[in-house]
Amino acid sequence: MATLAAALALTTTIATVAGTTDLPPGDPSQGEALYRQYCTVCHGATGEGDGPNAPFLEDDRPRDLTDARYMARLTDRDLTEVIRGGGGGVGRSRFMPAWGNTLSPQEVGDVVTYTRALSRQPQRPMALPADPPAAAGARLVAELGCTGCHRIGDLPSAPVAPDLSRLGAKLQRPWLDAYLQQPHRVRPAGYVPLSRSRMPDFRLSPQESRQMTAYLIRLRPEGVLPVGSVQAPAEADGSALFQRLACRACHIFAERGGQAAPDLSLVSQRLQEAWVALYLLDPQAADPRSPMPRPGIAPGEASALSAYLYAGSLSSPPEGPDARDEEEATRGAALFRDLACRACHRRPDEDVPERVGPDLTFVGDKLHSEWLKVFLRKPHPVRAWLRARMPTFGLTDAEVEQVTAFLATLRDQGLPPLSPLLQAGGGASPDILQAGARLASREYLSCSSCHLGGDRSPEGPADEWAPDLRLAARRLRPEWIVRWLLDPQRLLQGTKMPSYFPDADSGPNDILDGDEERQILVLRDYLLVIGAAPAGLGP
Ligand code: HEC
Ligand code: HEC
Ligand code: HEC
Ligand code: HEC
Ligand code: HEC
Repeated sequence: MATLAAALALTTTIATVAGTTDLPPGDPSQGEALYRQYCTVCHGATGEGDGPNAPFLEDDRPRDLTDARYMARLTDRDLTEVIRGGGGGVGRSRFMPAWGNTLSPQEVGDVVTYTRALSRQPQRPMALPADPPAAAGARLVAELGCTGCHRIGDLPSAPVAPDLSRLGAKLQRPWLDAYLQQPHRVRPAGYVPLSRSRMPDFRLSPQESRQMTAYLIRLRPEGVLPVGSVQAPAEADGSALFQRLACRACHIFAERGGQAAPDLSLVSQRLQEAWVALYLLDPQAADPRSPMPRPGIAPGEASALSAYLYAGSLSSPPEGPDARDEEEATRGAALFRDLACRACHRRPDEDVPERVGPDLTFVGDKLHSEWLKVFLRKPHPVRAWLRARMPTFGLTDAEVEQVTAFLATLRDQGLPPLSPLLQAGGGASPDILQAGARLASREYLSCSSCHLGGDRSPEGPADEWAPDLRLAARRLRPEWIVRWLLDPQRLLQGTKMPSYFPDADSGPNDILDGDEERQILVLRDYLLVIGAAPAGLGP
């Protein structure tokens, strides 16, 4: 797992550099974290002024912070001043926001120290070599939040998505219902800036989505501020404020502006007006991880600004029926739990929840890469009895390749070698298949008493059901099937799959002379061919 952890080290820490500073040095690693959160969208990951939002700032380019000649001319006090007060405060571009209301003086000091280090790196490599696919895949898996639902060795599960616990005060009900049925990008730079986190598609039915909406829309903060409290008499001119605060540095509004934040032409469809006014007063109070700078305005100004946004945004949807249906909301709460929404939408104080998806620690031993690619593109139920489901992430082809390459590296190096016979290649002679079919049948090992397949459901309770064995040929690596039949507990502790062959005398004696190893091989070969046969699990 050590290599995994290394592949996942998303950040490189810049060594503190001694040099001429006129202020006490800050903490560069704190500074780096803050820089990633607040500055990369414009100044770029390496500081060269090439962040994804840079092309949208009209003619103002974000400064290249690696330009040593230029940066040497600025003292630490100059840097502090422009970071705290923004470009407008020092006669430079207003598209450089003011961070003094968001960052503490100590944090500004940390960012200054880190910013300095960016221009002091000895000759930076011209182009960073691209990650090999498996390493890019490891990074993606972390950024997409796969580990919220799957254990993958000891990979940590980082927070990747907004907190939903006060959603009822924020979103418009019809918007929420439509979004759950068809999630799309809201934050163009991602919720975690420049990560590839996204809201996956759970393939909710309209009914499930209505239930989920009924539940989420009830999540409101205790003792909400009365709407009147922010709507103080507003003498302020919202339009002038909007220009002065250069909100378009990050947001599109009326078809112009940046690509670092949600489209403000949609506020009236998406958001409740009282929430917007509160958010403008203090974005981090609504969400501590919001990368939006606190504008530092008075309540009256916030409501004027909010009113300006509503006047200029696309017309509101009709208020949806406020079905105060207790039952819908209760069902929605159960769905929220069963579908593991909390795998990604954790509150800051919540621990990692229990995992609902299969353990992927050694999935590279188990699954064929070709099957993985098909599944990741368009997940379909394997364990059809589960309420939980593998959501659709809308991965691009390149992302599918990367994630697959990474998953394929997840192998268990500690597996004991198989005996020479068990390594033998397969056969599909009628004899072999017949022996396999007999072994699997109800007269013998009765695989279909747990496994789905054929025309009848297994007789046991649903929490003991197991995947359709007709999928095995496409899904599973032949060597894994052998190991699984040999010792399922070794591969998956606690599994309900029986160990049929614990010792040399365990298989039925009237098939293949009671030779366990040959029985395992014929079962494997039988599984490898039944995928094509419609009849399923034999007699
Ligand atoms: C919305 C885009 C945007 C964001 C976000 C942003 N900047 Fe800037 N920044 C700019 C632009 C544009 C300039 C160029 C100003 C000019 O030269 O007129 C700039 C210039 C600067 C300068 C040079 C000032 C000078 O005097 O030449 C520094 C230093 C700087 N930014 C630091 C930061 C830090 C630190 C952060 C994060 C806390 C940050 N910026 C976030 C857009 C941005
Ligand atoms: C919301 C929870 C959730 C998230 C997030 C999630 N999965 Fe899954 N995943 C599941 C569930 C549940 C299954 C089992 C589906 C089934 O068997 O029908 C599954 C199945 C799988 C399987 C098949 C494993 C097997 O043995 O059948 C793979 C591979 C997989 N997920 C990979 C991923 C990757 C890669 C990501 C991140 C891009 C991811 N998952 C994110 C819930 C999740
Ligand atoms: C440095 C970039 C930046 C600037 C400048 C900025 N914002 Fe934001 N804003 C963001 C980001 C990023 C978000 C999304 C936060 C989140 O993850 O929920 C956001 C969220 C919002 C939202 C909620 C949008 C939604 O659909 O959830 C509103 C409203 C908003 N900003 C208004 C403004 C206004 C008005 C200004 C000017 C005073 C402004 N912003 C300036 C980055 C910025
Ligand atoms: C794999 C991680 C993941 C899982 C699992 C997940 N979400 Fe999300 N969700 C996200 C991300 C990331 C965003 C932000 C997307 C954006 O802004 O573009 C988001 C956004 C949302 C939003 C919009 C919030 C806002 O302020 O814009 C809602 C509502 C939501 N999710 C509900 C759900 C529900 C309900 C479930 C369970 C069925 C769920 N999510 C499961 C990652 C996830
Ligand atoms: C008592 C119930 C039970 C019986 C009987 C049973 N299995 Fe299983 N089997 C399971 C369970 C449960 C799993 C799923 C393990 C997991 O992924 O959690 C499983 C998984 C498997 C898998 C992996 C399937 C996949 O696509 O991930 C194979 C292959 C398999 N069993 C073969 C067999 C064969 C062959 C037989 C008959 C010789 C058999 N099983 C009998 C319970 C059973």
